[in-house]
Formats: sequence, C-alpha cells, structure tokens
Amino acid sequence: MNNKYLIANFKTNKNLKDVQSYFETLSSYLVANPAKDLNITVMLNHLHILSGMKWAENFSVGSQSGIAEDSGSYTSAVSIKQLVDEKVEWILLGHSEEFAFFHETIESVNKKLLKAIAGNMKVVLCFGETVKDEFEKTVKTLESQLADMLINVDWKNIGQIIFAYEPRWAIGFGHSLGQDKANEIIGAIKKFLVRQYREEPKVLYGGSVKLDTIEGYMKEENIDGVLVGKEALDVDNFIKMIKVSEATLEETKDK
Ligand code: PGA
Repeated sequence: MNNKYLIANFKTNKNLKDVQSYFETLSSYLVANPAKDLNITVMLNHLHILSGMKWAENFSVGSQSGIAEDSGSYTSAVSIKQLVDEKVEWILLGHSEEFAFFHETIESVNKKLLKAIAGNMKVVLCFGETVKDEFEKTVKTLESQLADMLINVDWKNIGQIIFAYEPRWAIGFGHSLGQDKANEIIGAIKKFLVRQYREEPKVLYGGSVKLDTIEGYMKEENIDGVLVGKEALDVDNFIKMIKVSEATLEETKDK
C-alpha cells in the first residue's frame, strides 16, 4: 500500500465559520470518496483548535504551534500541554515563518519537539536551508540542522515524527524546488536519518506546491507526500489536490 501524506497549513487565515464550512465540504467529499492511500491533515491555529468545534472524523487536525512551557505568563501563546490536554493529535514545528516572525531558534524547536514527543503527539517537523546552494552544501546544512533539532530524541520515538523538507526560500513566495531535486535531497536526508536512527522516517516536501505540480512530487519514490499552504486554502482546490494525489498513488502502486 502506498501510504503518503497531504498536509494543509492554513496559517493565519479563516474565521471559525470559514473553517467549519471548509470542513463540511471536505468531509462530505471524503465520506463519499474515502482516501485509500493518503493521510490528510489540516494544521490550524489555536483559535480553531481550542474552539470546541466538532471536526469530521475521517481526517485529522493539528496545531500550527505550541510552546514548551506548560503554563505561565506567555501572552498570545498556546502551550503544548494545553494541546495535549485537549487531545490534539498533531503539531507542526520548526516552520520557517516562526523563524522569520516569532524569534524561533533551533534550540527552541528542540525543546518543543521533546515536549510534544513526551505528550505522545505526532509531529510534523520542518527543516530547510535559507538560501539556494549546491547539492553537497545543502545536504550538509540540512544534516547539521536536523542533528541539532533532534538532540536527546530517542530513536524509539522517531516514528512520531514526519519530517517536512521545506527550503525556506521557497515557502509562500511561489518559488519551488523541482520534484527531481527535492527527491534527490530527501533521498540523501533519509540516508542520514537511517544512519542516526536506524529507521527510515517519512519525509515530505513543502514550499509553493500547486495543483499542477503536486502529481510530480507524489510520484517520486523518496517523497512521502507534501505540505501545502496557499494552494490548500480553497476547499475545491484542495479536493482537486486529493483527487490528483490519489490517482497518482494508484498509478504508481505496483511500480
Ligand atoms: P506555501 O506554504 O505552500 O504557501 O509555500 C507552505 C507551508 O506553509 O509550509
């Protein structure tokens, strides 16, 4: 079975009503057309996550963030403990926009990661280089970033993490890394992770994935799915992305 991921990141978009209507449309599509080869998750901000809204059951939702401190005077932040208490299953960590706008550091990502793992959350862990460089240098940069993000993570917990390779220069700017290059870099990163952690983890690609490029990424052997921002905001478009992905996975199943 081809088991890949399609993860949407809503960022700071949509009010509760918008999310409700998006999820109604998405879930009625998924009830009629259950995803066979695809795990679908939508990353929300805490406004939506903690609203008590009833979510559809055949796909999962996650939080876009969370701080490592359990509670205290951290105005505007939601803690990972609060998310765990609310039984939120997934969390997105290390996103480039947190580095750009909220003083995120590799050390704080590591602290959050350890906290989320201890709370049994599933983590989508983003990593990526800031500037375009040649292959060898990029792989070295990524390996050292990952080694620092993963300090003190026990190899037994590595299965709780889905990695998302997102070149920082690609996110939100409409520039993407071609499927071949993404496949090559992810292949090298998987080898590195296997050397460190024995198991081969799932690694997704993210950064300006579009309806007309998703098929290319889903086809690639090393790429276990995609993380999509802007292009997932329109539900009809997102459903089209699901259809294309499912058809691609069906086609490539026995190859
Ligand atoms: P984008 O966002 O698809 O708009 O580039 C990707 C992301 O948020 O990870």
